[in-house]
Amino acid sequence: MVHQLLMPSQEIRTDRLLLTPLTPADIDDVHGVFSDARTWIHLPAGRHTVRASTVDLVQRKIGGRARHGLGSWAVRSATDHAFLGVGGVDMTAAGVWNLGYRLAPSAWGNGYATEIARAAVSAAHEVAPDVPITGRVLTNNPASAAVLERAGLSLVWQGSTSAMLPTGVERQVWADRALSRTQRAWLVANA
Ligand SMILES: CC(C)(COP(=O)(O)OP(=O)(O)OC[C@H]1O[C@@H](n2cnc3c(N)ncnc32)[C@H](O)[C@@H]1OP(=O)(O)O)[C@@H](O)C(=O)NCCC(=O)NCCS
Repeated sequence: MVHQLLMPSQEIRTDRLLLTPLTPADIDDVHGVFSDARTWIHLPAGRHTVRASTVDLVQRKIGGRARHGLGSWAVRSATDHAFLGVGGVDMTAAGVWNLGYRLAPSAWGNGYATEIARAAVSAAHEVAPDVPITGRVLTNNPASAAVLERAGLSLVWQGSTSAMLPTGVERQVWADRALSRTQRAWLVANA
């Protein structure tokens, strides 16, 4: 069970994880994960090949948290504080949360992404209960889809877009509730 203790610093502890708002001090750790080709096996073009991409990512997430009261966390082990990756929700231009996670390969297979996703859903409900929580995945990434499902999201759309993908791979949009036509259209267009 996820038991959260919301600290003044917005630090959250789950059973096994320490979730803290991303800060510039996390950039090198985040870059280690986002530049690792193994974390982009489903979408190789997304890999960060230069540190500036990670600086930009972290700055955007910090800005999003400042504007919307919540954003992705730096994820660390609650016991030894080892950096495990990034996960949580970020606000999108469609006015819905995007639930995402990218963990170091050595951390996979322990249920950490599920633990992060449940904490993120809980935090999003506290900050903005009326805002849908959504996720976007590729059909070649069933582990990620399994995490969304366990966090309470359901598949609302699957199909192809004009963007290049490996042969036979489609895009999916998941959500925790009914979406407006505009929200759905934005998510499909940006799936
Ligand atoms: C996707 C990712 C976050 C999952 O992290 P994780 O901590 O290993 O996930 P969890 O252990 O919480 O849950 C994954 C579930 O998917 C299942 N799974 C893994 N591979 C699977 C596969 N090929 N088919 C079906 N289910 C699979 C796991 O068995 C697990 O379920 P279980 O606990 O019942 O066994 C991690 O692999 C990652 O960071 N990948 C690279 C980045 C990425 O793909 N991010 C998502 C982009 S949309």
